[in-house]
Amino acid sequence: MHLLIPAAGSGRRMGSQRNKLLLSLLGKPLLSWTLAAAEASRQISWIGIMGQKEDFPDFQAILADLSLTKPVELIQGGATRQESVYNGLRALPTEADRVLIHDGARCLATPDLFDRSAEALLTCQGLIVAIPVKDTIKVVDAAKIVQETPDRSNLWAAQTPQGFEVKLLKKCHEEGREKGWEVTDDAALFEKCGLPVQIVEGEETNLKVTTPVDLSVAEFILRQRS
Ligand code: CTP
Ligand code: MG
Repeated sequence: MHLLIPAAGSGRRMGSQRNKLLLSLLGKPLLSWTLAAAEASRQISWIGIMGQKEDFPDFQAILADLSLTKPVELIQGGATRQESVYNGLRALPTEADRVLIHDGARCLATPDLFDRSAEALLTCQGLIVAIPVKDTIKVVDAAKIVQETPDRSNLWAAQTPQGFEVKLLKKCHEEGREKGWEVTDDAALFEKCGLPVQIVEGEETNLKVTTPVDLSVAEFILRQRS
């Protein structure tokens, strides 16, 4: 199974001067934890990393340090996550008919999660890893007045990996570009095109490192594991 890792962000909400994926997490760059999990997965056979050109030397250093057994390609990222994934899709080897996409910032995903996602993708067109929402979610208007409380039993928090048939996802991205759709995950494009997205049970610890608090929580979880 081919894996694309969007890693071309700037980490604005982290408030750091550089791409948050290069920040240190228990003495190793955040991205190297993500890559180590992908390397340990039985199902992943090829890894593409979308990054900004200025980060490539740091990415190369991470790869040299990990000395992965799987082929890895660095791909030019875009201005948005959506654009980065689109570039990744176009850089896939021609034999790739299905692809998993996993945010570099979700550095706690386990090899088992990659394996379960890859196996599930053999029997569906599109999937996302997700977990049931724990909080009660409110829909709020611009004046911060609550408009609605959706039934929590129908709500799932989307994570990555997300997986798709390559041809279909490419088509969705192209339609999205034509119509100016702006989305924060690939499943949203699939949904907008009327295609089915299957849920795969995610992991509670599979958080996306977004803010400095997340970095501390991630460090705590990794310490518990070791
Ligand atoms: N990403 C990407 N290309 C972009 C923007 C984001 O590949 N132009 C990647 C990030 O590197 C990250 C993933 O998409 O692995 C999820 O994005 P997010 O957590 O929002 O990361 P950033 O965009 O870096 O953070 P922020 O939104 O706080 O700036
Ligand atoms: Mg972002």
